[in-house]
Amino acid sequence: MSKAETAADRARGGASEHAVELDGVAVRFRTRKRDVTALAEVSLDVPVGEFVAIVGPSGCGKSTLLKLVSGLLKPSSGTVRLHGETVTGPRHDIGFVFQRAALLEWRSAKRNILLQAEMRKMPAEQARRRTAELMEMTGLTGFEDAYPHELSGGMQQRVALCRALLHEPPVLLMDEPFGALDALTREQLNVELNRIWRETRTTVLLVTHSVAEAAYLANRVVVMTSRPGRIAEVIDVNLPPERDYATTVADPEFARVTARIRELLGAGAAAD
Ligand SMILES: Nc1ncnc2c1ncn2[C@@H]1O[C@H](COP(=O)(O)OP(=O)(O)O)[C@@H](O)[C@H]1O
Ligand SMILES: [Mg+2]
Repeated sequence: MSKAETAADRARGGASEHAVELDGVAVRFRTRKRDVTALAEVSLDVPVGEFVAIVGPSGCGKSTLLKLVSGLLKPSSGTVRLHGETVTGPRHDIGFVFQRAALLEWRSAKRNILLQAEMRKMPAEQARRRTAELMEMTGLTGFEDAYPHELSGGMQQRVALCRALLHEPPVLLMDEPFGALDALTREQLNVELNRIWRETRTTVLLVTHSVAEAAYLANRVVVMTSRPGRIAEVIDVNLPPERDYATTVADPEFARVTARIRELLGAGAAAD
């Protein structure tokens, strides 16, 4: 039994069986020059343990949505709840992975991951054990003492993923985490992310520009409209949790889901 399971189980036993709830959420940005409605009337429930992919045109409010869930941003109207509790400020029970790994150049891979433990004042022994576990899970064993410049882009992103998972957050938010990687590395990381999600039973919200990535990884795909961002449709992906890459992409369900996403986004709208 991994600790992450207990985190997910705790969340499951809490006040809500939903990890994330957005209820009539709108976000308006007021700048000196203009007002921008980034999100309008977004409602979404994400059950504990689900993997949700979010796709939509550039500027439709995907990053804004993740910031709301993490508490980095407050909605202009509506409510955001995490495990049944209204989000009122930055949350510690989430992990966040961005497009850029944002590693500290002067710290080794291992010490970049341990940064999370230092920030959260985790017991040292627990942090060391968890770091070793995660590095093994992501194929980084042997690179503990390597510095970021000695790592490929894919490996740097693996380090960022380990750092985000160190404190065993019940919710993992990912904002185009593999967007800067080559296609093959991206595929590999997709396979690893599927396995990590199954092993940790973490609830994941993944923003991606890749239609294939969304369909391969998610239980549900949220397709958004252009600004102001609304949910156009939520597509259920009826594939088993464990997804062998070749088998999955050859499955008629995968074809159905990707075709539907493309249809909703409009021809050519989804850049891979
Ligand atoms: N802090 C901000 N101030 C003003 N406008 C913002 C701010 N953050 C985002 N926006 C605007 O809100 C819209 C949605 O942004 P964002 O969530 O980053 O889109 P996406 O991630 O889907 O590309 C965009 O038009 C963007 O310019
Ligand atoms: Mg964005």
